[in-house]
Amino acid sequence: MSIAGKNIIVTGGTSGIGEACAREFIRRGASVVMASIQQAEGEALEAELATIGRARFISCDVTQEDQVRALIEGAQAAFGPVHAIHCNAGAWGQGTAEDFDDAIWNKVMGVNVKGALLTAKHGIPALRAAGGGVLLVTTSVAAHVGFPRHAVYCASKAALEALVRCLATDYAGLVRVVGVSPGTIKTPMLAATCEGWDKPVEELYAEVARKIPVRRLGEPEDIAQAAAFLLSDEASYINGTILTLDGGTLALPPW
Ligand SMILES: NC(=O)c1ccc[n+]([C@@H]2O[C@H](COP(=O)([O-])OP(=O)(O)OC[C@H]3O[C@@H](n4cnc5c(N)ncnc54)[C@H](O)[C@@H]3O)[C@@H](O)[C@H]2O)c1
Repeated sequence: MSIAGKNIIVTGGTSGIGEACAREFIRRGASVVMASIQQAEGEALEAELATIGRARFISCDVTQEDQVRALIEGAQAAFGPVHAIHCNAGAWGQGTAEDFDDAIWNKVMGVNVKGALLTAKHGIPALRAAGGGVLLVTTSVAAHVGFPRHAVYCASKAALEALVRCLATDYAGLVRVVGVSPGTIKTPMLAATCEGWDKPVEELYAEVARKIPVRRLGEPEDIAQAAAFLLSDEASYINGTILTLDGGTLALPPW
């Protein structure tokens, strides 16, 4: 199974799942452009990964079209034709419908949905110019369950799953469009969701782990392994598929 020699862009590639994917893709011989709004983390990661492979950080807010366009051009300038793009940048926010306002819409729907659409808009022509490629989207089990006080986040992930299916049919034969749908993965975003609770994070994680059939939280590397497969040529017949990686969480009966 190989992604060696491919030029891959990972949005949100400087933290959590995206960082693990960047590390794994480079370990497997790909060139990786990490894009995010984390300038300092991005520069440090580029310096570290450049010692083992071809890595570049490009600062990019995926909600800004000019920055997304510049990201794609920057990746082509850095490592040549772009073979795969992982739309992984994500933002989280909580609240009920009565808490809803433009700020949460712009943050959560802006990064998760508009960001993925803009990345597809400017990334797909680059993939086609490379002779075909893969667009991988990080969705979430939140697309399928109603997390309390997470209506906008859940709606954004359901929208992303619809986007994967639509793009997969629109560009079939030219660009494969696939998704990874993580369950509960130990990342800074997950830690942020635990803030304000009456227990330490590790205690909360242990409680959640007891409710997951495999009795552990996911590691970012669990997603990276699946992402590397989905981007590889060995996955060439997989299109429009969203792979759930949740330790069996969604398979569990509700009683
Ligand atoms: N951690 C989980 O349990 C979990 C579960 C399901 C899905 N996800 C999804 O996985 C993806 C990665 O999340 P994570 O858990 O690794 O969180 P994280 O907070 O560690 O990483 C999020 C990344 O997105 C980047 N980002 C945020 N806003 C951006 C913007 N406007 N432009 C560009 N980059 C931006 C951040 O800089 C960061 O690099 C997200 O799409 C998230 O919704 C996470």
